[in-house]
Amino acid sequence: MSDSVQSYSQPLGDGLVLRALAAPFDPAEVERLALFNAAVHQDPQVAALTRGLTLHYPAARPEHWLIVEDTATGQIVSSLCLIPWTWRYADVALRSGEMGIVGTLPDYRRRGLVRALDHRFKRLLAEEGFHLSHIQGIPYFYRQLGYEYALPLEGGWHLRLDQVPDEASALAGRSRFCRATLDDVPALVRLYDEAARHLDISAPRDERAWRFLLEHEPLTAHASETWLLLGQDGEPRGYWRVARFGFGDGLIVDEASWLTLDAAQAVLGEAKAQAAERGKPFIRLSAPDSNPLITIGRAWGAQDAGRYAWQIHVPDPVRLLRQIAPVLERRLAESFLAGITRIICFDLYREQIALHLSEGKVTRVERGPVAEVAGAVYLALPPNLLAPLVLGWRGRAALAAAYPDVGIWGDAEPLADVLFPPMTAFLQTQY
Ligand SMILES: CC(C)(COP(=O)(O)OP(=O)(O)OC[C@H]1O[C@@H](n2cnc3c(N)ncnc32)[C@H](O)[C@@H]1OP(=O)(O)O)[C@@H](O)C(=O)NCCC(=O)NCCS
Repeated sequence: MSDSVQSYSQPLGDGLVLRALAAPFDPAEVERLALFNAAVHQDPQVAALTRGLTLHYPAARPEHWLIVEDTATGQIVSSLCLIPWTWRYADVALRSGEMGIVGTLPDYRRRGLVRALDHRFKRLLAEEGFHLSHIQGIPYFYRQLGYEYALPLEGGWHLRLDQVPDEASALAGRSRFCRATLDDVPALVRLYDEAARHLDISAPRDERAWRFLLEHEPLTAHASETWLLLGQDGEPRGYWRVARFGFGDGLIVDEASWLTLDAAQAVLGEAKAQAAERGKPFIRLSAPDSNPLITIGRAWGAQDAGRYAWQIHVPDPVRLLRQIAPVLERRLAESFLAGITRIICFDLYREQIALHLSEGKVTRVERGPVAEVAGAVYLALPPNLLAPLVLGWRGRAALAAAYPDVGIWGDAEPLADVLFPPMTAFLQTQY
């Protein structure tokens, strides 16, 4: 087995070899993978996305693209990739490695190939110090790889075209809209940041990311169009994005800036016109629930279409807890537990972690069996449930009600509630 990062290669037996794509990216090899991905996922857009994410995405690295080849035929038979993201968790940055574009050819399924790829993927997460890993995966499967549902994804609200009032269409008629260009990138960064400030968990999008989305639109996940609402002075007042590919028959508005009331009404009026032009029977508003477009849409009678959820894995709970320590300290300082001194023992069943608090500060987070300590507080949690708790998706009480093997009681209850409150979260795509 070769273990250098760039030339990683590992025989799996039966003539199968797991390896990373050649570095630097070889366009011919990328094309083979693109066609493999389109075939396995039965979706040509996945081929376009593969080309975009390898050859153009700013953070792309060949060692993150893993394949299994059958040496007898030279065919790619299984593959997945790691897509690096940065998240904002309250006021700290977390690095999360998305597991993306997972697939195995039908004849090679149920032979442990994704398990083998996942093993290598988890090594990459560890070597590169990722705090989290996320996937927008098929139901159930990824639980077997240590993932648990923990953040809202997709879905949203269905707004019928007849629910958009004539006044909104009139407002749209008096407004100026245009497609965004590369010149608008600074304004888009500003508008995106402004909207993200309304969320506790978000994925910051810098100029490079915006440039990728605009410059390589056909090679992005949903080939989304970015539209601007212009003010009297011709400057962007807001933006929204329309996905060209995605679930369902509606016009998918999957992102919008923090629009004022009249701006939101004008955008919905324009979205109605675009839906009618494109033969879409309704508008699906898929932005975060707190976004003004959804507030207005709901006031007009939009129907809740539910949401799917990101599945999250915590590669190393110690690393994660150390990284979010400043947030935990702030939550304590703002609560009736200000100045507390305690040891909190997270019993994750397969391992134990001690978080030492001294006068409200996190002084140490360490792994290892925790000896009985007078005054220590115990939180027993199946390992997969750490993500929903820490990300504020399900609180202590909800988890304990659903899972009898969640053991949080006594003094641990208020501590868990203060340290891990509900959080508003939404990850807008990076690609
Ligand atoms: C889902 C898919 C990626 C699984 O690939 P695979 O190479 O067969 O997976 P593995 O053999 O490594 O399976 C890992 C484990 O999951 C189980 N498993 C395999 N397919 C499963 C499925 N569809 N649902 C639930 N469990 C499944 C296996 O039995 C194995 O369990 P074990 O290790 O305890 O024995 C493959 O069926 C596929 O490509 N499907 C079509 C595309 C797709 O849906 N991709 C996922 C998009 S998110």
